[in-house]
Parts: sequence; C-alpha cells; structure tokens
Amino acid sequence: MTDSGGVAIVGCGWAGHKHADAFIAEGARLRWAVDVDPLRAAGVAALQPGARQATSLEEPLSDPAVNMFDVCVPHYLHAETCLAAIAEGKDVLCEKPLAPSLADADRMAEAAEEAGTLLMVAENECFNPMYREIASLLAAGVIGEPALVQATRECYLRESFVHDRRWFLSRDAAGGGILLAGAVHDFAKLRMMLGEVVVLHSLRARQRFAEMEAEDTVVTVLGFEGGAVGTLVESFFMIDPTTTTGAEVHRLRIDGDKGSIEVTAPQRLRVTTLEAEKEVTVTLEDTFRAEIREFLTCVASRREPATSARAQRRNLELVEAAYASIASGQPVRL
Ligand SMILES: NC(=O)c1ccc[n+]([C@@H]2O[C@H](COP(=O)([O-])OP(=O)(O)OC[C@H]3O[C@@H](n4cnc5c(N)ncnc54)[C@H](O)[C@@H]3O)[C@@H](O)[C@H]2O)c1
Repeated sequence: MTDSGGVAIVGCGWAGHKHADAFIAEGARLRWAVDVDPLRAAGVAALQPGARQATSLEEPLSDPAVNMFDVCVPHYLHAETCLAAIAEGKDVLCEKPLAPSLADADRMAEAAEEAGTLLMVAENECFNPMYREIASLLAAGVIGEPALVQATRECYLRESFVHDRRWFLSRDAAGGGILLAGAVHDFAKLRMMLGEVVVLHSLRARQRFAEMEAEDTVVTVLGFEGGAVGTLVESFFMIDPTTTTGAEVHRLRIDGDKGSIEVTAPQRLRVTTLEAEKEVTVTLEDTFRAEIREFLTCVASRREPATSARAQRRNLELVEAAYASIASGQPVRL
C-alpha cells in the first residue's frame, strides 16, 4: 500500500462497495467514503483502517492526500461530481454511463483535458477476459470474416434490487432505461471485438416493467464497419429460472465465413469450424479489479486509460442514436 495519495469513493452503494474492495485489493489507500447516507459511508469506510467518512464532497475535495476520486453515484450526479473533482485536479474514475447525455460527457472530457487530469470510465466489460479472448480469436482469423453477431442481455430486476435504488426507475435520475444502463456495456464490448458500429436501428418493446419510467426492453439491429450485421436484444424484464434469481444472462454468438464462436457458459467458449469443434476455457478474473488496476497504472504512469472518456464516447453516441431511432422509427447512420 502506498502512503502518498489515496482515493475518495463517492457513492457507497453496490458499485461503491465493489470498487472499494478492488482498490484495497490492488494496494491503494482508501481515504474517504462519501455518501449522503452516513450508514452506507460507514460501511465502506470500515473496509480499511484509517478511512474517513463524509456525507458531502467538501472535505475529500480539499484533502491533499486524495489524488483520486471514484464516482459511483446515481447517473444524474455523475457530471457534477466528476467536474468538482476535476476542478481540484483529481484523477477520476467514473462508473458507466459517464453521463446520461453526450453533451455532458463531452464537457467532462474537455474539463479533464484542460486540467491535465485523467477521466476514465469504469467500463468493466472491456476488462472481461472472455471478450478479450474472443477479440484475439477474431483478429487471428479463426472464424474468418465475422458476418453475423447475436448478443443478448437478459435481466429481471427484482424488488430487492430496486427497493434501495428507486433512482434507477426514474427517467430523470437514471437518464434512461436498458439502453443507458445496459447498451453502453454491450456497445463497448461489441466495438472492442468487432470494430465500429456504423448503422443501427432500435425498436422498443411494449413496456412490461410498469414501475420503470424509461424503456425496459429494446432490440437493436447493428451494422459494423467491417460489414458484419448483428442483433442486440436487451431486457430488464426476462422471466426465467436464472434471471429471476437476480443473475444476468449475457449471450453471444458470432458467425464468420469459416466458423462460429459462441459463449456457452461464463467461462466457456465453443469455436466451431467445418473441420473441428473446440471448447475453450477462459480464466476469468474480477473485472472491477482489472479496471481499477488499469486506473491505478494510468494514474502512476500518466498513460491514457484504455477506457478513457474519449475512448468510450462512441458508446454514448450509439445510445443517443438508438433513442433517436426509436423516436423516428428509422435506422440511424453514424
Ligand atoms: N459496471 C457495472 O456492472 C455496474 C453495476 C452496477 C452499477 N453500476 C453503476 O454504478 C453506479 C451506482 O450504481 P449502484 O447500483 O451502486 O447504485 P446504488 O443506489 O446502490 O448506490 C448509489 C449510492 O449513491 C449514494 N448517493 C446518492 N446521492 C449522493 C450524493 N449526492 N453524494 C454522495 N452519495 C450519493 C446513495 O445513497 C447510494 O448509496 C451507476 O452509475 C451504475 O450504473 C455499474
């Protein structure tokens, strides 16, 4: 653990806890746990001896021992919290989505560039060894040129999940539904594996999750720069024996002109060609830990993070394009 510098975690809910565990496991010093709910702040502060708690940003912002801010608050607070930290010269890690709007995300990225601070999006899917393995198999031409992509994000938001997160159901506080909360992840990982999305057409299904103000289910047809096309099916209201336990199911299959790659289990891939079928086991690791290791490495070396605000901008652009497509009923070219 290093004595110079340390992190203030703002928002001590589910993500704040995961991040605090990861910072500590990676040898960083947790200096402050900040939450409007003092009990939540205390819960995270208790994870490291000497960590202090606060219900507002003032003290952590002015603490010279804090060089990093980690923002894990509801979406509508991302921009103002990050901008406050950037204004004090702190390096910032912010949970996805960077902001509910591209305009805010751009303001944040510009502020960080002007201040010379790092602004990294905590896009943990980009650190998932499964998707990195698929990216290298595709780059190696194992299935030839990708032509068809089928991806799903299947969730069922149980009452126990939304009970402590009423903000997640509000359009104003969350900024959107499955597109803003889920598609940012899926666009990030699909782009990492298959290159840029250049056209999309989104359709919103009939709403079934009545408590949620924004969209609960969307199907998006995607066109990639390399010529592949795909479907992305995402829902917060999929009832089946797995999702109703709270687990999310992320399916993925990519077909090329020489074969296919399919995720068959969280750790397993099946690579099929006309000649052979091969099961590949991928060694997983905690993606939160991997992303926080990247952040700490970049803070120390002043390198641009793999998931910097600039690098992740396109995901929000695609989310806005998907909303525009739903509104107009037309495909959107980017
Ligand atoms: N990468 C992932 O897989 C993943 C998973 C879950 C959540 N997230 C993201 O993490 C962020 C937080 O989500 P969550 O599920 O942890 O929500 P949460 O509701 O569990 O936690 C948010 C916390 O912020 C606190 N808070 C609210 N206003 C505040 C303020 N003004 N100052 C300080 N604290 C304040 C709340 O009291 C709460 O404890 C969101 O951006 C969400 O999208 C990412």
